[in-house]
Amino acid sequence: MTIQPGTSITAVQAGLPLDPLENRILLCHATGLTRVQLITQGDRPLAPDEAARLTDLVARRQRGEPIAYIVGRREFFGLDFQVGPAVLIPRPDTELIVELALERLPQGPARLLDMGTGSGAIAVAVAHTRPDADVTALDVSPDALALAQANAAANGARVRFLHSSWFDALDAGEIFDVIASNPPYIAAGDEHLAQGDLRFEPVGALTDHADGLSALRTIIEGGPRHLVPGGWLLLEHGYDQAEAVRTLLANAGYAEVQSWQDLAGIERVSGGRA
Ligand SMILES: C[S@@+](CC[C@H](N)C(=O)[O-])C[C@H]1O[C@@H](n2cnc3c(N)ncnc32)[C@H](O)[C@@H]1O
Repeated sequence: MTIQPGTSITAVQAGLPLDPLENRILLCHATGLTRVQLITQGDRPLAPDEAARLTDLVARRQRGEPIAYIVGRREFFGLDFQVGPAVLIPRPDTELIVELALERLPQGPARLLDMGTGSGAIAVAVAHTRPDADVTALDVSPDALALAQANAAANGARVRFLHSSWFDALDAGEIFDVIASNPPYIAAGDEHLAQGDLRFEPVGALTDHADGLSALRTIIEGGPRHLVPGGWLLLEHGYDQAEAVRTLLANAGYAEVQSWQDLAGIERVSGGRA
């Protein structure tokens, strides 16, 4: 659809084809107005550049591009994150692993490692909540790390970033009280990769190009060498992987192996103690 300049903001908003929330977000993005200003300036006619921008934004959304990539932002754990095609869009479900990690970080000196940090969601949320903790975040993607670094700075979070494939760039003796990870866990060829938002997200953030468990296996195997005795490994995984992950954890010798449910009642995070 082509949005005509000169139409009032209120009329444009009423005529947009998306759901009301998305209409409002894109109208704010195209005009630079806040939600309140959309109302207080409702009679103002849309300028030609605003109408052109809005036409483009609506077309992108209609092609299925996630709203977070279109506006370049997503809220996570009450913080504002910059997002782009190099990183997974942080999901509300991932707030669970942040809460579990925060509950398990000792008071006083505390060290957390976020493996596969993407936008920095987990590391930045933890570091923002526990500014006294030493938080390290790693990722194999330099573009993701650049964005994560910007998100840490924008949120005033102190995080050390490492370019690393899983444990490779860590010093042998480096240990943490908690390791948290939301690794790629979708199996190669899974039909979900060709659906919805996932079509636009970085494939290396979604799939391990194998059975879905290979990154989880690597992290579980390497965890004990980088955890304090009794330290927690917490892993986010797919809706149907909890039992398999618990088995991997138990076979690797972790104690107190268990899973936790997300808000939808799905076992979303599993973990155990070294
Ligand atoms: C599912 S995304 C999670 C992003 C972020 N932690 C979150 O929860 O929103 C998985 C992340 O793992 C990273 N990754 C994939 N393979 C990796 C590897 N071999 N070593 C380190 N990170 C890796 C991807 O680049 C991606 O950023």
